[in-house]
Amino acid sequence: MERIIFDCDPGHDDAVALAMAKGLSEYFKLEAVIATYGNQIREKTLTNTLNLAQALNLDVPVYAGSVAPLIRERVVAGNIHGENGLAGPVFPECRLKCAGNGITYALDTVINNPGEITFVSVGPFTDLAVCLKADPRFAPSLKRIIVMGGSTCGGNVTSTAEFNVYADPEAAQIVFNSGVEIVQFGLDVTLQVMLSEEILEKVRASKETNYKSIFLASMEYYVKSCKEFIHDYPAMHDPCTIAYLADPTIFKFIETDVEVDLKSTLHYGATVDLRESINKNVKKAIKADIKKFWDLFFKALEKLP
Ligand code: RIB
Ligand code: CA
Repeated sequence: MERIIFDCDPGHDDAVALAMAKGLSEYFKLEAVIATYGNQIREKTLTNTLNLAQALNLDVPVYAGSVAPLIRERVVAGNIHGENGLAGPVFPECRLKCAGNGITYALDTVINNPGEITFVSVGPFTDLAVCLKADPRFAPSLKRIIVMGGSTCGGNVTSTAEFNVYADPEAAQIVFNSGVEIVQFGLDVTLQVMLSEEILEKVRASKETNYKSIFLASMEYYVKSCKEFIHDYPAMHDPCTIAYLADPTIFKFIETDVEVDLKSTLHYGATVDLRESINKNVKKAIKADIKKFWDLFFKALEKLP
């Protein structure tokens, strides 16, 4: 069974991905979660991750990831995810505590379990890049990397850059050129997996659970902020990585060479596919089977507390 470290920045779609990871735990083993800065500052994403871990009875350690990008100034997405990073749900007092530094945890776990651990990154790639640079044994010890990030269909921060890459372009370039097997879920595919009123109605009609309340409260806020800022319903960006782990047939892929624009001013943080390059460093998702995705979501929802 594939063992994963899940690095995230909750964040509304990160929260759905964590819930699906809990509900689909028959398909892979979630070893730990690392909360990085991204949608909000690390203090807030860590609080959100601990609250979600408690609400979901996740029963895995939650570690603290990076607080800032490698080089550029930190940017967050409070306009979309709110002041606390997961606006909408109100959580009870959290009994869980941070298990420690996520970088040292990931280095130790990956290097001491060669070929076993997959690193899933759905926030800025800073934690992964730091690990790749900190110890040359890390890259060859990884089973593979799965990322949500990048876009060749237009950006969601600038007109060409997607947030997770834009937040730390240098980290993304390090990851894409690490030589590790990489599966990429960029906006090209995640924007195909959109929340809708029909899905929300189906959730409302589902059995009453604590997570159902959390989901509906968070999506109520997320729908409003997405309609205001991106003029559409929210996409299930990060949950695509979890759906893939549970059922890879949901997606279709191409092999390509992904590079990050670090030099441009206007296109800083954009990802570019060098399709004629012989250095095919990435398996890039380009198509999603929407029905299969949502069937998997509701299968997970059934199992949540
Ligand atoms: O561009 C979408 C990505 O940025 C998602 O991971 C979302 O959570 C934000 O981090
Ligand atoms: Ca995210």
